[in-house]
Amino acid sequence: MSTDLSIRAVAIRELMDDPDADLRMLERTYDRFSLVNSVVSRWRAVYRREIRPRAQKQSIRLLDVGAGGGDVSRAIAAWAHRDGLSIHVTALDADARAIRWALGRGGGVDYRCAYTSDLAGEVFDVVISNHLLHHLIGDELPDLLQDSVRLATAGGLVLHRDIERSRFAYWGFGAGTLPFEKNLLADSFIRADGLTSIRRAYTFGELSAAAPPGWRVRRAFPARLELRWESSNASS
Ligand SMILES: C[S@@+](CC[C@H](N)C(=O)[O-])C[C@H]1O[C@@H](n2cnc3c(N)ncnc32)[C@H](O)[C@@H]1O
Repeated sequence: MSTDLSIRAVAIRELMDDPDADLRMLERTYDRFSLVNSVVSRWRAVYRREIRPRAQKQSIRLLDVGAGGGDVSRAIAAWAHRDGLSIHVTALDADARAIRWALGRGGGVDYRCAYTSDLAGEVFDVVISNHLLHHLIGDELPDLLQDSVRLATAGGLVLHRDIERSRFAYWGFGAGTLPFEKNLLADSFIRADGLTSIRRAYTFGELSAAAPPGWRVRRAFPARLELRWESSNASS
């Protein structure tokens, strides 16, 4: 039977979100995120285009929401260090298991177990997320966007990047990960949760419709959506 991708499969939850998930498999999943992200998420390009130019003007603070095991946070901190730039990276995740695992990885990142609504009186020059939007349920998306704007400095930038749901993404990820199911990705939730993530993800039209005024949605390769807010464009 073919998988229905015509609507968001919000009733199906990812295995990693189960509080009773096998801890060993969950931790292996955090460990493998860096591999997956290096292929599909392309934060190096985002760092070069959006983050580095800001850090070249002044020392900046960056918040990574739903950071999981913190691989994107650590990568940004490492690139900045290599470029001789000062970026203070805070990796935030609501799941204590993710933060516990990430704390053991260091990397010059400040790891915190919290929701964005818990951050009071703090501001960041850049707020990002990767593969977070499709996890959100109910009012969590509008709440996240409202919090992101509140947490951004004057002149700040918010970039929430995620998968775009499509046949290309679903079958491409399915075929691309199949040879690695029993080796590189074994004993992790990467393949199963990746396919579920794509089924839960927004299309360009859905995310555009959900985006409040001031936010823009852009497509990127491969099968990426970027939801963007800049304080300089906030009134446009
Ligand atoms: C698929 S993982 C992505 C991890 C990481 N960003 C990456 O790309 O490797 C999504 C993470 O978002 C976290 N999460 C879900 N809802 C959240 C929320 N409302 N606030 C903070 N974290 C959340 C989950 O605990 C999970 O670790």
